[in-house]
Amino acid sequence: MTTPQELAQRWDAQQTAYVRHRAERFATIARVVARICADTASPRVLDLAGGFGSLGLAVIEQLPQARLVIADKDPVLLAIGNDLTRDRPEVEVVDVDLDDPDWHQHPVIAAEPFDAVVSSTALHWLQPEILTAVYWRLGELVRPGGIVLNGDNLAYDEHSEPTLHRITAEDDQAVQQAAFEAGTDTWDDWWKAAESVPEYADAAELRGRRWGASLHTPPPKVTLGFHQEALRSAGFREVGTVWRHLDDHVVYAVR
Ligand SMILES: C[S@@+](CC[C@H](N)C(=O)[O-])C[C@H]1O[C@@H](n2cnc3c(N)ncnc32)[C@H](O)[C@@H]1O
Repeated sequence: MTTPQELAQRWDAQQTAYVRHRAERFATIARVVARICADTASPRVLDLAGGFGSLGLAVIEQLPQARLVIADKDPVLLAIGNDLTRDRPEVEVVDVDLDDPDWHQHPVIAAEPFDAVVSSTALHWLQPEILTAVYWRLGELVRPGGIVLNGDNLAYDEHSEPTLHRITAEDDQAVQQAAFEAGTDTWDDWWKAAESVPEYADAAELRGRRWGASLHTPPPKVTLGFHQEALRSAGFREVGTVWRHLDDHVVYAVR
């Protein structure tokens, strides 16, 4: 039987095949959250579209008294998240669809303000109007002085930034080729493995119904500037970029 821990490990390797500096991205986010929460007794962190919580779990490793909420809509990743954190009362896994305008009213999310909201390789999937609405909700959910940190690939434009668009595509290609030749799962390999675990059969079936055709819809083009303006308009007073490598950015916003 493939255990949730094995699937989590394989997921992280698979994601790193698509995001060259994923570990550095996570470590950067974790360090900033630790500084923001330095004077908070029991910080509350939200991993938004967190899958089973790779990023959130890495962030709270630096914060011994922290509480973590992992929010996602994918039934398989949620099931793995529940299995991984079964013995960890400080972690809650919630089923939330960010396309639902009332997602922020989920009782676990709405219960208390967050000190930090983090996200990785996820928000670029949202349509611009949904992304803006999500950031506006975060303006209400994050405490004053708290932070949003979004690590995401914000693609160069093929027409107006063709040189960096090409260099990034070549860089991505090289990282993926090396990883797959070394035996790392592709995205499709990983899903095949996860969906063939009998314990996740029901979740896999629900996954197909829940995502439908949107599972294969390419993400919209949303620029770094768009993220930053949306965060500013949501009431965040300090907005910028903490870290970047080519199109891989960690965008931050302090409330
Ligand atoms: C590439 S995965 C990244 C997962 C995780 N953040 C990580 O870095 O390992 C993208 C995640 O975004 C989630 N997601 C995409 N659209 C979503 C939505 N509308 N509501 C909630 N989660 C969403 C997916 O279910 C998936 O877990």
